[in-house]
Amino acid sequence: MKQQIENIKQEFAQELQNATSVANLQELRVKYVGKSGVVTGLLRQIKDVAPQDRASVGNMINDLRKGVEVQLAETEEKFAQVELENKLKAEQIDISLLNGQQWGTRHPIDKVKDEIIDLFKGIGFEVCEGPELETDYYNFQALNIPLEHPSRDMQDTFYINDNILLRTQTSAMQARLMEKKGPPIKMLCPGKVFRADSDASHSPVFHQIEGLVVDTDITLRDLKGTLEYVAQRLFDEQTQVRFRPSYFPFTEPSVEVDLTCCNCHGKGCSLCKGTGWIEVLGAGMVNPFVLENCGIDSNKYTGYAFGFGIERMAMIKYGIPDIRLFFENDIRFLKQFKK
Ligand code: DAH
Repeated sequence: MKQQIENIKQEFAQELQNATSVANLQELRVKYVGKSGVVTGLLRQIKDVAPQDRASVGNMINDLRKGVEVQLAETEEKFAQVELENKLKAEQIDISLLNGQQWGTRHPIDKVKDEIIDLFKGIGFEVCEGPELETDYYNFQALNIPLEHPSRDMQDTFYINDNILLRTQTSAMQARLMEKKGPPIKMLCPGKVFRADSDASHSPVFHQIEGLVVDTDITLRDLKGTLEYVAQRLFDEQTQVRFRPSYFPFTEPSVEVDLTCCNCHGKGCSLCKGTGWIEVLGAGMVNPFVLENCGIDSNKYTGYAFGFGIERMAMIKYGIPDIRLFFENDIRFLKQFKK
């Protein structure tokens, strides 16, 4: 019996050495210490052992069983560790790959737009947006630009049909606002506008911001103070605003607004073509004809309006020479606005 125990011990040691997986160990467990396993079988044979030897043989069998169980458990732990390591290796994700990831950045037009809107919001302007597909009425007629009027030629229009067009100016929102809201009005309308025009300073689609203020006692001085406030924060504290007489059918009087050049501060440079001033927007007092057309009493109310291109503001602010750069989405250009 003792020899038998020794043989089983060695046989087990050999089989354990050959085991390569947790599953193999499970088979060994069943074979040796399972209910009808080899070691369990030995215990059953103990009744045949001479009574004086039973205790020592019983101890040997118990030691064998414990030894088998402990070795199985230890080896199982080792295998489980290796199997886990293999699994982790197989499922490994190389997070260092993310180091090369390029994060996007806000488009310069959006950045400048939000900066300008924030400045106007700070002095009480509300913001609204209108349709890009507009009627001839709101884009032209309500703004004192009748059918066949020569001033239409200033804006090369994409017509969808005789009545519908892609709006050429955010001024199209003026009459909509006056009709719908009525005074007092203090609104800003940003949005896309469209013109059949394309070169280094013109794009078939670009962005404008329209401003409209209608209330009692509004004067050109309010307009000048407002524009000065915004320009000084957008460019620099020294920026000055200059009005030059101009003509727009929907404002009377109309002005062209210049700012002192933010590059040379008025001394004259290539950006301002030596004049010290840069033309940035059109504006004026809302034409009483337009007010009346929208049901607003022009004896009681006055208003000012202005409109400018966001691309032009961004080109001046960042010294960008060609408007087309905004729409080409060349990553080398866009990356420069990361901060
Ligand atoms: N809508 C004009 C344009 O696109 C700009 C403009 C001029 C807007 C005078 C105004 C204004 O509100 O009063 O050229």
